[in-house]
Amino acid sequence: MLGVPTAVALENGLALTPPMGWMTWQRYRCNMDCDSDPSTCINEQLIKEMADRMAEDGWLEAGYRYVSIDDCWMTKERDAQGRQVADPKRFPSGMAALGDYIHGKGLKFATYGDIGAKTCQGFTGFQGHFEQDAQTFAEWKVDYLKVDGCFESPKDMARDYPAFGAALNQTGRPIVYSCSWPAYMPSHCEKSDHCMDSLVEHCNLWRNFDDVQDSWDSVKSIANFWRRRNASDEMVRAAGPGHWNDPDMLLVGDFGLSPSQEQTQFALWAIWAAPLFMSNNLRDIKQSSKEILLNREIIAVNQDLLGHQGFCVGGCDGDLRIWAKPLVGGETAAVLQNLQEGGDGENITLTMAMLPWKSRRIFKARDLFAQQDLGLFREELTLYVHVNSCRMVRLSDVIEMMV
Ligand code: GLA
Repeated sequence: MLGVPTAVALENGLALTPPMGWMTWQRYRCNMDCDSDPSTCINEQLIKEMADRMAEDGWLEAGYRYVSIDDCWMTKERDAQGRQVADPKRFPSGMAALGDYIHGKGLKFATYGDIGAKTCQGFTGFQGHFEQDAQTFAEWKVDYLKVDGCFESPKDMARDYPAFGAALNQTGRPIVYSCSWPAYMPSHCEKSDHCMDSLVEHCNLWRNFDDVQDSWDSVKSIANFWRRRNASDEMVRAAGPGHWNDPDMLLVGDFGLSPSQEQTQFALWAIWAAPLFMSNNLRDIKQSSKEILLNREIIAVNQDLLGHQGFCVGGCDGDLRIWAKPLVGGETAAVLQNLQEGGDGENITLTMAMLPWKSRRIFKARDLFAQQDLGLFREELTLYVHVNSCRMVRLSDVIEMMV
């Protein structure tokens, strides 16, 4: 639609919209002390409880289907046959049984490994065992695998990530392949179409940049990395059905963000067509956080079938920023973001001339957080946006002027 050429893509038919789910890492890290912290350590009980909540509390219905066990599920040694094994104390039933439990709830089973000699926390990595490990994950009926890049030289990744992806494909089981390859490259693949094309060719999604931490500073720094300015940007053009940029997990429902900052993170991740992985405590989550994460109209922007990554179209160097994303049927989603940290707020004006894909004169706007129609507008839309906050809108129904 934007006339940007696309690269050859990994055609495994998966992740045609950005994957959505829940992941252990940000909230539960590598807590292995189940004696002292029985409800927050990485064990099969935690995973089962989250799967229960996802299936029963409306998350699955809204689209959150992957339950992902990040680092620290495995042992530091392989078994006598050289296979990866789950820590027998914390995962006494084993990974295959846990996968069955997750599948029994209608959810998808996601987990983690590392392309190098060890995972980032020092557990067994895939190095020297690509075929065997891919086979093990297929036997466990894993649906999604995040493959990290610790304990591997970035220069070997261009060889090893495609090789492991090929091993996954050879198992015959469809497994979403999430690569952390560019996050470990000093360039992050920036300014290189060639580098991004190889991610599109070999991976369903990939992490380019730093790990998210539970703070607004972390979200701001990630948002600055993703402050792309046009559709031909090498990272924007790389995103599309089956292949996505991953700015890392959502913090909504955790401790570091205010309610309006939680809204802002969700709005930005939605407009970037980012994977939506929560990492929170679904057994005990604030109603306001739940409402943000379950906002169907914002999820629809993220999951829009056109699969375009939104980018910054106005005020990109300042504190009053406008982000926009083209949607199926000629509609547009926009986020008007006020990054100021003092005072009450400012008016932010989105003009149709800022949108590179269509110029409309009269259009309808709907406020996606308030879930209210705002009315008809001509040429521009001005909204008052509080500091540290955003407004998110969907623009539709262009009315042609009869002259
Ligand atoms: C890296 C990844 C994180 C997480 C940890 C686990 O830092 O980027 O997302 O998976 O490793 O050790």
